[in-house]
Amino acid sequence: MDWGMQNRMQRIFKPEDNRTVMLAVDHGYFLGSISRLEEPAKTVEPLLPFTDSLMITRGILRNCINPRYNMPIVLRVSGGNSILSEDLSNEGLTVSMEDALRLGACAVAISVYVGSAHEHETLLNLAKLVDAGQEYGIPVLAVTAVGRELEKRDARYLTNACRIACELGAHIVKTYYCDDFQKVVESCPVPVVIAGGPKLKSELDVLEMAYNAIACGAKGVDMGRNIWQSQWPIAMITAIRSIVHKNTSAKEAYGVFCSLKDKK
Ligand code: 5RP
Repeated sequence: MDWGMQNRMQRIFKPEDNRTVMLAVDHGYFLGSISRLEEPAKTVEPLLPFTDSLMITRGILRNCINPRYNMPIVLRVSGGNSILSEDLSNEGLTVSMEDALRLGACAVAISVYVGSAHEHETLLNLAKLVDAGQEYGIPVLAVTAVGRELEKRDARYLTNACRIACELGAHIVKTYYCDDFQKVVESCPVPVVIAGGPKLKSELDVLEMAYNAIACGAKGVDMGRNIWQSQWPIAMITAIRSIVHKNTSAKEAYGVFCSLKDKK
């Protein structure tokens, strides 16, 4: 791996433990003004001191995030449809590699929709993005997206989707946690991080999911709604950090969450 690529990967994954707490706030690219991200800066800025890297679109980065922050950016560069369209898999590339570089991106992120109507295009887009990234030393994060078909999130599907993303050259894969998650991680030779998905019933459920993912070999989280849609986002991200970087159990992390939540 070239120096630039290695350096960017190490800015995202902390060299001490090769793990990351990536905060995902890119949802607006197809959901629009989602709850708690109506005014992105208000939600995101208080969380930055607890964040290792930020997954975001160029529009929100340019307009809402102060450039003074020294935050590794994972730039969402795919899109082209909205929650109002029937088929969410119809995504193309939305940002040139030159603009990603202009924004100082540490990595670029793209969704692939394995087994969907637009599987072919999204996989070729990934391959093209990897080629462009290789030219400039920019890693590519592939999201194994499922659109509305949340039931697809099982080990067989996710193992194959993650592996295909890696085979096409992705440097990082973002996927969903599932039963037998170890199989997903074991057959994906590049670092795997998990999305949180729609908000779960309780904070403890989220912490258990994060703990199980890390125990199965995930290299961190790339989580959004289950952090910033919580009533206590700082307590939540701090608890997640303790799992990712301090190897605490879900129960211990819940203790961290409760102690911080009670202070507010
Ligand atoms: C969808 C995405 C999201 O926009 C987002 O990053 C997911 O984060 P979370 O599920 O934790 O809210 O990648 O495919």
